Amino acid sequence: MSLVNANAPWRGRMSMHAGNKLKLGLFGANCSSGRAVTKVPERWSGAWPDNLRLARMADEAGIDFLLPIGRWKGYGGETDYQGATLETITWATALLAATRRITCFGTVHAPLFHPLIAAKQMVTADHIGEGRFGLNIVVGWNEDEFEMFGVEQRDHAARYDYAQEWIDAIKLIWSEREDFDFAGRYLELKRVRAKPKPYGDSRPIIMNAGASPTGQTFAVKNCDAFFMQASRVSVADTAERVAKVKQLARQHGREISVYTVGVITCRPTMREAEDYHRHCVVDQADWSAVDRLLAMRKITPQTVSAEEFATQRSQFAHGNSGLPIIGDPDHVARQLIDLSSAGLTGIAVSLVNYADELPFLRAEVLPRLERAGLRETR
Ligand SMILES: Cc1cc2nc3c(=O)[nH]c(=O)nc-3n(C[C@H](O)[C@H](O)[C@H](O)COP(=O)(O)O)c2cc1C
Repeated sequence: MSLVNANAPWRGRMSMHAGNKLKLGLFGANCSSGRAVTKVPERWSGAWPDNLRLARMADEAGIDFLLPIGRWKGYGGETDYQGATLETITWATALLAATRRITCFGTVHAPLFHPLIAAKQMVTADHIGEGRFGLNIVVGWNEDEFEMFGVEQRDHAARYDYAQEWIDAIKLIWSEREDFDFAGRYLELKRVRAKPKPYGDSRPIIMNAGASPTGQTFAVKNCDAFFMQASRVSVADTAERVAKVKQLARQHGREISVYTVGVITCRPTMREAEDYHRHCVVDQADWSAVDRLLAMRKITPQTVSAEEFATQRSQFAHGNSGLPIIGDPDHVARQLIDLSSAGLTGIAVSLVNYADELPFLRAEVLPRLERAGLRETR
């Protein structure tokens, strides 16, 4: 595909329009509760005014990207965890119109969006954002969301077979200047014509976060960025995981950036950070929602050992997985520096209340990353 060349718009997109060696993003702000499964009253509303306020604040602070969650049905529990969610392409489109530099992703379920409609929605967002739209392609992992659409979830391998056709079609729709037919196993498109093309003779950056070998292979073959779990054990472990993904990409003749996901609780002292973390996601966790989340992934006291169940419960309470980064600004900055040294290009983080907590991160953590040479001075 001629799109992915070393031209300037493409380099701009890949670098998310800034020279930050460690990219920082906010993950999950389009959902009520964000990612913390907590009952604390200050938990994230996910409402539009808060998203708009947050996006403008993040843009101004030099945060690189906003990554939303594609969720159609909440998880219930006392708080109806992620019960209210803003649809991600429309959310990104509006935020791109209201910001100047930040990249906004849409998280798109390939099996639920017709590729021609999705491609055009994304192009529209991309023009509005002048090349700042990104695609997070997902195949879906919650059965009851699919039920709601009357769409049957395919078996795991077939989900990615379908996604392969879907992304092939999307890339053609974005690039092909002449009318074309697309005849796949699942998709049959006739005399396709789609204008305009994405902004600046390029295309949106594409990411995926498949955890399975099939998902990873899909990512390295088709995407520019891959999101993986960082090790909770050691930086060396994380470095090894990053190296393996990059190696797999090279086997497919491609280069890929590797990102991870984290949950930050940053307070002036270690003690304050640890206390707040415990307050939110232990004492005030919405355990009924956590148990539903786990049951949907077939993690129950019947399917795993008591020890494993307890570990999974506590990990899901603080954000449905993701590396916990809890501490004072020195500690948080050090952890982020370590992740960068492991070869990660960036991290998408969630906060209990994004807009309340971002100013402190900006004032205390970002300058430490600048001094470490990982972020541009602002
Ligand atoms: C950063 C990140 C964001 C994700 N966003 C979504 C999402 O919004 N909606 C969704 O259905 N799945 C989402 N997923 C799930 C992945 O796309 C993927 O399905 C999951 O990691 C399981 O991997 P597998 O599909 O290879 O089995 C996300 C995962 C991660 C790590």
